[in-house]
Amino acid sequence: MQTVTLNNGVEMPILGFGVYQIPADQTEQAVTDALAAGYRSLDTAAAYQNEEAVGRAIRNSGIPRGELFVTTKLWIQDPGEDNTKRAFDASLKRLGLDHLDLYLIHQPFGDYYSEWRAMQEIHRQGLARAIGVSNFHPDRLVDLIAHNEVAPAVNQIETHPFFQRRADQDLMRRHGVQIESWGPFAEGRNNLFTDPVLAGIGEAHGRSVAQVVLRWLVQRGVVVIPKSVRVDRMKENLDVFGFELARDEMDRIAALDTGASQFFDHRDPEWVSRLGGRRID
Ligand SMILES: NC(=O)c1ccc[n+]([C@@H]2O[C@H](COP(=O)([O-])OP(=O)(O)OC[C@H]3O[C@@H](n4cnc5c(N)ncnc54)[C@H](OP(=O)(O)O)[C@@H]3O)[C@@H](O)[C@H]2O)c1
Repeated sequence: MQTVTLNNGVEMPILGFGVYQIPADQTEQAVTDALAAGYRSLDTAAAYQNEEAVGRAIRNSGIPRGELFVTTKLWIQDPGEDNTKRAFDASLKRLGLDHLDLYLIHQPFGDYYSEWRAMQEIHRQGLARAIGVSNFHPDRLVDLIAHNEVAPAVNQIETHPFFQRRADQDLMRRHGVQIESWGPFAEGRNNLFTDPVLAGIGEAHGRSVAQVVLRWLVQRGVVVIPKSVRVDRMKENLDVFGFELARDEMDRIAALDTGASQFFDHRDPEWVSRLGGRRID
């Protein structure tokens, strides 16, 4: 599997498996299937409430821990360094692991400076090989970097053909932060899977729209974590390294950018309140 090198030297697979919106009682099977298909990087979150099932699938797979790259995320609630350490320990326990490969602040809300201080400590202790953030717009990211010792290794943000984040990626590159896409297919919104430009490019290569999208992201150096509960799609989504998009094809996809989220803007006060008030236990 192709990897990217994070700002602390850690190697991260460029393609992994996301488990958002997989119900807890289906997650063990989905992750078991994904690992059997060849995925070695898994992306979950405390807020997805399926960490235990991810952990069971890891244990039952028999795959050596060193061959896996496991990410989970800290939810907004209970600020402060002690609470962050407690939340981290609880995630580790639910996953049944003794360390994480990547621990992310899930949202740029609340007292994430105290959370980041705790995460720096967790990283120093070797309990998380890398630490990062998610859903941070450039201003928040730059501010966090300016006022802390450790810069985030990763920023996981909505990135797909209709919201391409090129300026964000350029800024992150300048600060040594790896961009990771969530929602690479925009969860199918805006008719992504039947988009004529993407379908036309797919036809030219004998590939599906999903494969064109993932290939386009990988060629841009974006880490991807597509989600599927179907084994055929898991395999399809993994099989994006045997072809290459030409310059003009990359340009045609670049023209699909709307510059706006297909979900919601993390700077919208209504959403900030709504997410900030969500408790997960
Ligand atoms: N940090 C954050 O705030 C955040 C937010 C959202 C997501 N994420 C992470 O990013 C991961 C991926 O994003 P996502 O799950 O929101 O959406 P996504 O990967 O863009 O889309 C998943 C949807 O596409 C379908 N699909 C998958 N492969 C397909 C294929 N080859 N052909 C046709 N349909 C296909 C899936 O259906 P089936 O399952 O039925 O195949 C599912 O409905 C998440 O699982 C999560 O780990 C993070």
